[in-house]
Amino acid sequence: MSKKDSTANLDLWLTRTRALLEKALRASIPSAATKPAIIHRALRYSLLSGGKRLRPLLCCAAAEACGGTSRVALPAAAAVEMIHAYSLIHDDLPCMDNDDLRRGKPTSHKMFGEGIAVLAGDALLTEAFAVLAAATPLARYTASDLVAELARAAGSRGLIAGQVADLAAEGRQPSEPALYFIHAAKTGMLLRASVKLGAMSAGGTKTQVAALDRFGFALGLAFQIQDDILDATQSAKKLGKTAGKDAAAGKMTFPALFGLEKSRLLAGQWTSEAIVSLKTFGPRGATLHHLAVRLLQRDS
Ligand code: IPE
Ligand code: IPE
Ligand code: MG
Ligand code: MG
Ligand code: MG
Repeated sequence: MSKKDSTANLDLWLTRTRALLEKALRASIPSAATKPAIIHRALRYSLLSGGKRLRPLLCCAAAEACGGTSRVALPAAAAVEMIHAYSLIHDDLPCMDNDDLRRGKPTSHKMFGEGIAVLAGDALLTEAFAVLAAATPLARYTASDLVAELARAAGSRGLIAGQVADLAAEGRQPSEPALYFIHAAKTGMLLRASVKLGAMSAGGTKTQVAALDRFGFALGLAFQIQDDILDATQSAKKLGKTAGKDAAAGKMTFPALFGLEKSRLLAGQWTSEAIVSLKTFGPRGATLHHLAVRLLQRDS
Protein backbone atom coordinates (compact mmCIF):
# COMPACT_ATOMS: atom_id res chain seq x y z
CA MET A 1 0.00 0.00 0.00
CA SER A 2 1.33 3.48 -0.83
CA LYS A 3 1.99 6.00 1.91
CA LYS A 4 -0.85 8.17 0.58
CA ASP A 5 -3.30 5.25 0.76
CA SER A 6 -2.32 4.34 4.31
CA THR A 7 -2.69 7.98 5.43
CA ALA A 8 -6.13 8.20 3.83
CA ASN A 9 -7.15 4.89 5.42
CA LEU A 10 -6.03 6.05 8.85
CA ASP A 11 -7.89 9.36 8.45
CA LEU A 12 -11.05 7.51 7.52
CA TRP A 13 -10.68 5.12 10.44
CA LEU A 14 -10.05 8.04 12.84
CA THR A 15 -13.14 9.94 11.70
CA ARG A 16 -15.37 6.89 12.03
CA THR A 17 -13.97 5.73 15.36
CA ARG A 18 -13.90 9.22 16.92
CA ALA A 19 -17.61 9.59 16.14
CA LEU A 20 -18.35 6.31 17.95
CA LEU A 21 -16.19 7.37 20.88
CA GLU A 22 -17.69 10.82 21.31
CA LYS A 23 -21.15 9.27 21.45
CA ALA A 24 -20.03 6.66 23.99
CA LEU A 25 -18.36 9.32 26.13
CA ARG A 26 -21.43 11.57 26.12
CA ALA A 27 -23.52 8.60 27.27
CA SER A 28 -21.07 7.54 29.98
CA ILE A 29 -21.75 10.38 32.42
CA PRO A 30 -25.00 11.95 33.71
CA SER A 31 -26.58 14.90 31.85
CA ALA A 32 -25.59 18.44 32.86
CA ALA A 33 -29.04 18.91 34.41
CA THR A 34 -28.60 15.97 36.82
CA LYS A 35 -28.31 17.14 40.42
CA PRO A 36 -25.97 18.36 41.73
CA ALA A 37 -25.73 20.19 38.40
CA ILE A 38 -22.39 21.86 39.19
CA ILE A 39 -20.49 18.56 39.37
CA HIS A 40 -22.10 17.18 36.23
CA ARG A 41 -21.33 20.37 34.37
CA ALA A 42 -17.72 20.06 35.54
CA LEU A 43 -17.52 16.40 34.44
CA ARG A 44 -18.87 17.21 31.01
CA TYR A 45 -16.64 20.27 30.70
CA SER A 46 -13.49 18.16 31.06
CA LEU A 47 -14.55 14.90 29.44
CA LEU A 48 -16.25 16.36 26.38
CA SER A 49 -13.72 19.09 25.62
CA GLY A 50 -11.90 17.48 22.72
CA GLY A 51 -8.35 16.24 23.06
CA LYS A 52 -6.76 13.69 20.80
CA ARG A 53 -8.67 10.76 22.33
CA LEU A 54 -5.51 8.74 21.94
CA ARG A 55 -6.17 6.18 24.67
CA PRO A 56 -9.68 5.18 23.55
CA LEU A 57 -8.53 5.14 19.91
CA LEU A 58 -5.73 2.75 20.87
CA CYS A 59 -8.23 0.64 22.76
CA CYS A 60 -10.47 0.33 19.68
CA ALA A 61 -7.55 -0.30 17.32
CA ALA A 62 -6.28 -3.05 19.63
CA ALA A 63 -9.70 -4.73 19.63
CA GLU A 64 -9.65 -4.68 15.83
CA ALA A 65 -6.08 -6.02 15.73
CA CYS A 66 -7.39 -9.04 17.68
CA GLY A 67 -10.18 -9.62 15.15
CA GLY A 68 -12.92 -7.82 17.09
CA THR A 69 -14.79 -4.57 16.45
CA SER A 70 -14.34 -1.09 17.90
CA ARG A 71 -17.88 -1.37 19.24
CA VAL A 72 -17.03 -4.24 21.58
CA ALA A 73 -14.25 -2.10 23.09
CA LEU A 74 -16.38 1.00 23.72
CA PRO A 75 -16.93 0.52 27.49
CA ALA A 76 -13.18 0.05 28.01
CA ALA A 77 -12.43 2.94 25.65
CA ALA A 78 -14.75 5.29 27.55
CA ALA A 79 -13.32 4.13 30.87
CA VAL A 80 -9.67 4.83 29.93
CA GLU A 81 -10.55 8.29 28.62
CA MET A 82 -12.43 9.02 31.87
CA ILE A 83 -9.35 8.02 33.88
CA HIS A 84 -7.21 10.20 31.60
CA ALA A 85 -9.57 13.19 32.00
CA TYR A 86 -9.53 12.82 35.79
CA SER A 87 -5.72 12.59 35.80
CA LEU A 88 -5.48 15.82 33.79
CA ILE A 89 -7.85 17.74 36.10
CA HIS A 90 -5.76 16.73 39.11
CA ASP A 91 -2.43 17.19 37.24
CA ASP A 92 -3.41 20.82 36.54
CA LEU A 93 -4.32 21.70 40.16
CA PRO A 94 -2.28 24.42 41.90
CA CYS A 95 -0.84 21.79 44.27
CA MET A 96 0.46 19.80 41.29
CA ASP A 97 1.48 21.42 37.96
CA ASN A 98 -0.57 24.59 38.55
CA ASP A 99 -1.80 25.02 34.99
CA ASP A 100 -4.46 27.47 33.82
CA LEU A 101 -4.95 26.15 30.31
CA ARG A 102 -6.01 22.71 29.06
CA ARG A 103 -7.21 21.81 25.57
CA GLY A 104 -7.35 25.52 24.74
CA LYS A 105 -9.71 26.33 27.61
CA PRO A 106 -9.38 27.34 31.28
CA THR A 107 -8.58 24.34 33.48
CA SER A 108 -11.31 22.83 35.66
CA HIS A 109 -10.22 24.63 38.84
CA LYS A 110 -10.10 27.96 36.97
CA MET A 111 -13.68 27.39 35.78
CA PHE A 112 -15.27 25.79 38.83
CA GLY A 113 -12.88 26.40 41.74
CA GLU A 114 -10.49 23.94 43.34
CA GLY A 115 -13.03 22.08 45.45
CA ILE A 116 -15.25 21.16 42.50
CA ALA A 117 -12.20 20.35 40.34
CA VAL A 118 -10.94 17.85 42.94
CA LEU A 119 -14.41 16.33 43.14
CA ALA A 120 -14.83 16.23 39.35
CA GLY A 121 -11.60 14.22 39.17
CA ASP A 122 -12.81 11.91 41.95
CA ALA A 123 -16.13 11.40 40.18
CA LEU A 124 -14.59 10.64 36.78
CA LEU A 125 -12.24 8.13 38.41
CA THR A 126 -15.12 6.39 40.18
CA GLU A 127 -17.58 6.48 37.27
CA ALA A 128 -14.92 5.00 34.96
CA PHE A 129 -15.08 1.76 36.91
CA ALA A 130 -18.88 1.71 36.77
CA VAL A 131 -18.71 2.03 32.98
CA LEU A 132 -16.10 -0.73 32.71
CA ALA A 133 -17.94 -3.06 35.11
CA ALA A 134 -20.89 -2.98 32.67
CA ALA A 135 -18.70 -4.28 29.80
CA THR A 136 -19.44 -7.66 28.27
CA PRO A 137 -16.08 -8.85 26.93
CA LEU A 138 -15.97 -11.76 24.48
CA ALA A 139 -14.83 -15.19 25.76
CA ARG A 140 -11.67 -15.61 27.88
CA TYR A 141 -12.13 -12.53 30.11
CA THR A 142 -14.81 -11.24 32.46
CA ALA A 143 -15.69 -7.64 33.27
CA SER A 144 -13.96 -8.13 36.59
CA ASP A 145 -10.69 -9.04 34.80
CA LEU A 146 -10.99 -5.73 32.94
CA VAL A 147 -11.72 -3.80 36.13
CA ALA A 148 -8.69 -5.36 37.84
CA GLU A 149 -6.45 -4.45 34.89
CA LEU A 150 -7.55 -0.81 34.90
CA ALA A 151 -7.27 -0.54 38.69
CA ARG A 152 -3.69 -1.84 38.54
CA ALA A 153 -2.73 0.64 35.82
CA ALA A 154 -4.35 3.65 37.47
CA GLY A 155 -3.46 2.79 41.06
CA SER A 156 -0.66 3.57 43.49
CA ARG A 157 1.82 1.30 41.69
CA GLY A 158 0.82 2.61 38.26
CA LEU A 159 -0.13 6.11 37.07
CA ILE A 160 -0.18 7.45 40.64
CA ALA A 161 3.34 6.12 41.28
CA GLY A 162 4.48 8.05 38.20
CA GLN A 163 2.82 11.26 39.34
CA VAL A 164 4.37 10.86 42.81
CA ALA A 165 7.82 10.39 41.25
CA ASP A 166 7.21 13.34 38.89
CA LEU A 167 6.52 15.63 41.84
CA ALA A 168 9.41 14.25 43.89
CA ALA A 169 11.82 14.79 40.98
CA GLU A 170 11.03 18.51 40.59
CA GLY A 171 14.23 20.53 40.91
CA ARG A 172 16.37 17.39 41.21
CA GLN A 173 19.37 16.46 39.09
CA PRO A 174 17.92 14.30 36.26
CA SER A 175 18.86 10.63 36.26
CA GLU A 176 18.06 8.14 33.50
CA PRO A 177 16.44 5.45 35.71
CA ALA A 178 14.26 8.00 37.53
CA LEU A 179 13.20 9.56 34.23
CA TYR A 180 12.27 6.22 32.66
CA PHE A 181 10.31 5.29 35.76
CA ILE A 182 8.32 8.55 35.74
CA HIS A 183 7.40 8.29 32.06
CA ALA A 184 6.67 4.56 32.04
CA ALA A 185 4.40 4.94 35.06
CA LYS A 186 2.61 8.29 34.72
CA THR A 187 1.87 7.87 31.00
CA GLY A 188 2.91 4.36 29.99
CA MET A 189 0.72 2.46 32.43
CA LEU A 190 -2.53 3.89 31.07
CA LEU A 191 -1.44 3.46 27.45
CA ARG A 192 -0.59 -0.18 28.16
CA ALA A 193 -3.94 -0.71 29.84
CA SER A 194 -5.73 0.98 26.92
CA VAL A 195 -4.46 -1.50 24.34
CA LYS A 196 -4.71 -4.50 26.67
CA LEU A 197 -8.30 -3.68 27.59
CA GLY A 198 -9.17 -3.35 23.90
CA ALA A 199 -7.66 -6.78 23.27
CA MET A 200 -9.38 -8.31 26.30
CA SER A 201 -12.75 -6.83 25.25
CA ALA A 202 -12.34 -8.60 21.91
CA GLY A 203 -11.33 -11.92 23.50
CA GLY A 204 -7.70 -11.63 22.37
CA THR A 205 -5.28 -14.46 23.11
CA LYS A 206 -2.62 -14.37 25.82
CA THR A 207 0.04 -13.88 23.14
CA GLN A 208 -1.87 -10.95 21.65
CA VAL A 209 -2.38 -9.28 25.04
CA ALA A 210 1.32 -9.74 25.87
CA ALA A 211 2.37 -8.25 22.51
CA LEU A 212 0.12 -5.25 23.12
CA ASP A 213 1.55 -4.82 26.58
CA ARG A 214 5.01 -4.43 24.98
CA PHE A 215 3.55 -2.12 22.33
CA GLY A 216 1.89 0.06 25.00
CA PHE A 217 5.05 0.25 27.09
CA ALA A 218 7.21 1.42 24.18
CA LEU A 219 4.55 3.76 22.78
CA GLY A 220 3.99 5.24 26.24
CA LEU A 221 7.65 6.22 26.44
CA ALA A 222 7.69 7.61 22.90
CA PHE A 223 4.51 9.58 23.59
CA GLN A 224 5.70 11.16 26.85
CA ILE A 225 9.14 11.97 25.38
CA GLN A 226 7.28 13.75 22.57
CA ASP A 227 5.09 15.55 25.15
CA ASP A 228 8.29 16.81 26.83
CA ILE A 229 9.74 17.93 23.48
CA LEU A 230 6.55 19.77 22.54
CA ASP A 231 6.45 21.54 25.91
CA ALA A 232 9.94 22.86 25.19
CA THR A 233 9.44 23.77 21.52
CA GLN A 234 5.81 24.71 20.77
CA SER A 235 3.55 27.66 21.62
CA ALA A 236 0.65 27.55 24.07
CA LYS A 237 -1.63 28.41 21.16
CA LYS A 238 -0.55 25.32 19.29
CA LEU A 239 -0.59 23.02 22.33
CA GLY A 240 -3.78 24.31 23.98
CA LYS A 241 -1.80 24.13 27.25
CA THR A 242 0.93 26.25 28.81
CA ALA A 243 4.25 25.92 26.98
CA GLY A 244 7.72 25.97 28.52
CA LYS A 245 6.21 24.92 31.83
CA ASP A 246 8.48 21.92 32.45
CA ALA A 247 11.73 23.90 32.44
CA ALA A 248 10.15 26.64 34.57
CA ALA A 249 9.01 24.08 37.15
CA GLY A 250 12.31 22.18 37.09
CA LYS A 251 10.59 19.00 35.86
CA MET A 252 12.66 15.91 35.12
CA THR A 253 12.17 15.50 31.38
CA PHE A 254 13.95 13.90 28.44
CA PRO A 255 15.07 17.25 26.96
CA ALA A 256 16.42 18.25 30.40
CA LEU A 257 18.59 15.13 30.58
CA PHE A 258 19.42 14.41 26.94
CA GLY A 259 18.77 17.67 25.03
CA LEU A 260 16.28 18.00 22.18
CA GLU A 261 18.17 16.19 19.47
CA LYS A 262 18.81 13.00 21.45
CA SER A 263 15.25 13.14 22.81
CA ARG A 264 13.89 13.15 19.24
CA LEU A 265 16.10 10.18 18.43
CA LEU A 266 14.85 8.28 21.48
CA ALA A 267 11.21 9.03 20.67
CA GLY A 268 11.86 7.55 17.21
CA GLN A 269 13.58 4.49 18.65
CA TRP A 270 10.77 3.74 21.10
CA THR A 271 8.24 4.17 18.30
CA SER A 272 10.15 1.60 16.22
CA GLU A 273 10.27 -0.70 19.25
CA ALA A 274 6.49 -0.36 19.58
CA ILE A 275 5.96 -1.20 15.92
CA VAL A 276 8.16 -4.31 16.13
CA SER A 277 5.89 -5.75 18.81
CA LEU A 278 2.94 -5.66 16.36
CA LYS A 279 4.44 -8.37 14.17
CA THR A 280 2.18 -11.13 15.49
CA PHE A 281 -0.91 -9.24 14.20
CA GLY A 282 0.12 -9.18 10.53
CA PRO A 283 -2.03 -6.81 8.42
CA ARG A 284 -4.53 -6.43 11.26
CA GLY A 285 -1.89 -4.44 13.17
CA ALA A 286 -1.79 -1.74 10.46
CA THR A 287 -3.99 0.79 12.28
CA LEU A 288 -1.88 0.59 15.45
CA HIS A 289 1.26 0.84 13.34
CA HIS A 290 0.07 3.95 11.50
CA LEU A 291 -1.20 5.51 14.73
CA ALA A 292 2.25 5.12 16.30
CA VAL A 293 3.87 6.80 13.30
CA ARG A 294 1.30 9.60 13.32
CA LEU A 295 1.96 10.29 17.01
CA LEU A 296 5.65 10.75 16.38
CA GLN A 297 4.85 13.37 13.74
CA ARG A 298 2.37 15.31 15.89
CA ASP A 299 2.98 18.94 16.81
CA SER A 300 0.33 19.30 19.52
C1 IPE B 1 -1.50 14.78 28.06
O1 IPE B 1 -2.07 13.74 27.33
C2 IPE B 1 -0.90 14.21 29.31
C3 IPE B 1 0.14 13.23 29.05
C4 IPE B 1 0.14 12.06 29.61
C5 IPE B 1 1.23 13.54 28.15
P1 IPE B 1 -2.60 13.96 25.85
O2 IPE B 1 -1.55 14.65 25.03
O3 IPE B 1 -3.12 12.67 25.34
O4 IPE B 1 -3.79 14.98 26.08
P2 IPE B 1 -5.15 15.20 25.26
O5 IPE B 1 -6.08 14.14 25.73
O6 IPE B 1 -4.86 15.09 23.80
O7 IPE B 1 -5.62 16.57 25.67
C1 IPE C 1 0.76 14.25 32.92
O1 IPE C 1 2.03 14.55 32.51
C2 IPE C 1 0.59 12.80 33.21
C3 IPE C 1 -0.71 12.52 33.82
C4 IPE C 1 -1.71 13.34 33.84
C5 IPE C 1 -0.89 11.22 34.44
P1 IPE C 1 2.32 16.10 32.20
O2 IPE C 1 2.18 16.92 33.41
O3 IPE C 1 3.57 16.20 31.40
O4 IPE C 1 1.08 16.41 31.22
P2 IPE C 1 0.76 17.87 30.64
O5 IPE C 1 1.99 18.31 29.90
O6 IPE C 1 0.39 18.75 31.79
O7 IPE C 1 -0.38 17.58 29.69
MG1 MG D 1 2.38 16.62 35.49
MG1 MG E 1 1.08 18.79 33.68
MG1 MG F 1 3.83 17.57 29.75
